[in-house]
Amino acid sequence: MQGGIALVASGSATPSQKLTNDQLGLRVDTSDAWIRSRTGIGERRVSTPEESLAALSAKAGSAALDMAGWDPATIDLVLLATSTPDDLFGSATQVQARLGAKNAVAFDLTAACSGFLFALITAAQYLRSGAMHRALVIGADQMSRWVDWDDRRSCVLFGDGAGALALQSTNFENDGLLGFKMKSDGSRGNCLNLVDNGDSMSLVEGIRYRKGKFLPIQMNGQEVYKFAVREVPAILDELLTLSEITPDSLDWLLLHQANKRILDAVADRFSIPYEKVLSNLFKYGNTSAGTIPIMLDEAVREGKIRRNHLIASSGFGAGLSWGASLFRWHGPD
Ligand code: COA
Repeated sequence: MQGGIALVASGSATPSQKLTNDQLGLRVDTSDAWIRSRTGIGERRVSTPEESLAALSAKAGSAALDMAGWDPATIDLVLLATSTPDDLFGSATQVQARLGAKNAVAFDLTAACSGFLFALITAAQYLRSGAMHRALVIGADQMSRWVDWDDRRSCVLFGDGAGALALQSTNFENDGLLGFKMKSDGSRGNCLNLVDNGDSMSLVEGIRYRKGKFLPIQMNGQEVYKFAVREVPAILDELLTLSEITPDSLDWLLLHQANKRILDAVADRFSIPYEKVLSNLFKYGNTSAGTIPIMLDEAVREGKIRRNHLIASSGFGAGLSWGASLFRWHGPD
């Protein structure tokens, strides 16, 4: 009997251009010491003008397919979580074409920094129902395109990157997705935005329209911080209780990489030792939908995450949106 999901393989890709805190200090009034102590970030990656989101995503996806040993033609779904597509109509189809996943349906999912987790859970439903057999879930963002590089309160946090996860349906006894929860609260959405604010234009006599043009990211850092340290422990607690899993049985805590202080606060809340808290914030900063799968991939390739390890993951961000999932790593056969 089908009905289960196996997390089979991972991949990731980041642009090669590195921007250190010291270099950022040449542009805005900040310092390496300030950024490190308030966020844990040391540097971030910035795509060149020529590097597309689709190319970065396909590179991550291709690495996951290589690890899985899958022919791209055997994938049924390419689900791309991103808020920074190359094309507002969606970038997933370009990723599908680059991968040669000719039998897959491909579409984008937008949920900001919760995007990867929401996409993983969405893809899992197609596999559970039996409608699909293999899925490639990609979380990718090029925040460098949309950050206000003159706003020191936000620009120090973000970077670019992509991560991917190959999922396969399996029998129910081997199900790797033990539970999940997702939440949204649009009434608090104005503390983190990337909004359309184009000019009002005349179309013909008596008809006006707004020409699309986005403002850079606007963020109330303190409000977002408070939201994260309140809601992430709450949703994880709900999920652990529901799943009858105690925090000490977790092998890893895999949180959205936004701020080291947020990671520490969540770990403290559950008395999880810091050695079990995965973090690569220092190298990449916040890559939005990219953080969780990039971190997962690094931990898998470093041999930290191994078969049957139990992982609690939580994503949170603009929307506001947040979610959590509990899964066991399977790895390639
Ligand atoms: N360099 C130097 N000083 C800076 C600075 C920077 N990059 N950014 C802000 N400051 C200054 C402020 O102007 C302020 O100075 P003032 O007291 O003279 O007005 C001071 O540092 C403290 O600012 P504050 O906003 O209180 O700092 P903070 O401790 O809250 O840290 C964040 C700011 C952004 C790091 C923190 O709020 C945060 O991480 N929030 C969550 C953001 C996030 O994760 N967003 C994405 C979610 S998906």
